[in-house]
Amino acid sequence: MKALTDTYTLSNGVRIPCVGFGTWQVADGREAVDAVTSALEAGYRHIDTAQGYYNEESVGKAVRQSGVNRADIFITSKLENGVRGYQETLDAFDKSLDRLGTDYMDLFLIHWPVPSKFRENWQQMNAQTWKAMEELYQNRRVRALGISNFRRHHIDELLKTAAVGPMVNQIRLCPGDTQDDTVNYSREKGMLLEAYSPLGVGDVLQVPEMKEIAEKYGRSVAQVAIRWSLQRGYLPLPKSVTPARIRENARVFDFELSPQDVERIAGLKGCAGFSHDPDKITW
Ligand code: A2P
Repeated sequence: MKALTDTYTLSNGVRIPCVGFGTWQVADGREAVDAVTSALEAGYRHIDTAQGYYNEESVGKAVRQSGVNRADIFITSKLENGVRGYQETLDAFDKSLDRLGTDYMDLFLIHWPVPSKFRENWQQMNAQTWKAMEELYQNRRVRALGISNFRRHHIDELLKTAAVGPMVNQIRLCPGDTQDDTVNYSREKGMLLEAYSPLGVGDVLQVPEMKEIAEKYGRSVAQVAIRWSLQRGYLPLPKSVTPARIRENARVFDFELSPQDVERIAGLKGCAGFSHDPDKITW
């Protein structure tokens, strides 16, 4: 990868810009409009939002105001946890498009495999949901489909009834939290791994070993973490509402970490915490 606009190719041939701009915990309204505007100005062409982030309207507004062609921007959203089922999913997808102010989505994900509301029947609910998503895909209303926070047993369950397999699994991946089993299994099933919280929601920046490595390369810890994500073959989704940091996080293509350092960073087990157990979430 040499630039933000370089792409990974999904299993269905769709190309996806190699770094996405993360918008979790970016407040709807001015904060989100300004952040996404800064990201587009800095050259990001991939924006990751979700129904559950409650900022789709602002993301859409920033995209439209940017003057960048819609076709040159990759937009992802995710089905919120309160919604599962065939018709419910179709309706929720339409509402997302309305809020985003666009007539298609690039990637749509099931946000969590086992929402607390569906803990007793998540298998059936995901199967029905996926049917709706396949229909949206066949009707070209979305260019690619995926999942988020799914582990091996959730993937197996989905694949029992899926006609179209997911192309992406978006999970928490950051220094010391490499979720090896999920990564390997997702890849085996043809999925690209997207890395959310690639900075451990900021916690990675305080890790002494990361500071030491960053100093060696003359880079910030954030840049090293994002670069590490790319060198592991993940698609990082760094979030910031600070324009200087948004630009800084995009400058990760003019240095390379040694294989030893990539290993060392992977091995900093739990340095920024671990992902939630998706079977036990309370949302
Ligand atoms: P802010 O949004 O206030 O700029 P993650 O991508 O893992 O979710 O991490 C996001 C957190 O890391 C946010 O708190 C964000 O702060 C902070 N952050 C993002 N980029 C940088 C950076 N380059 N330097 C310092 N902090 C950063």
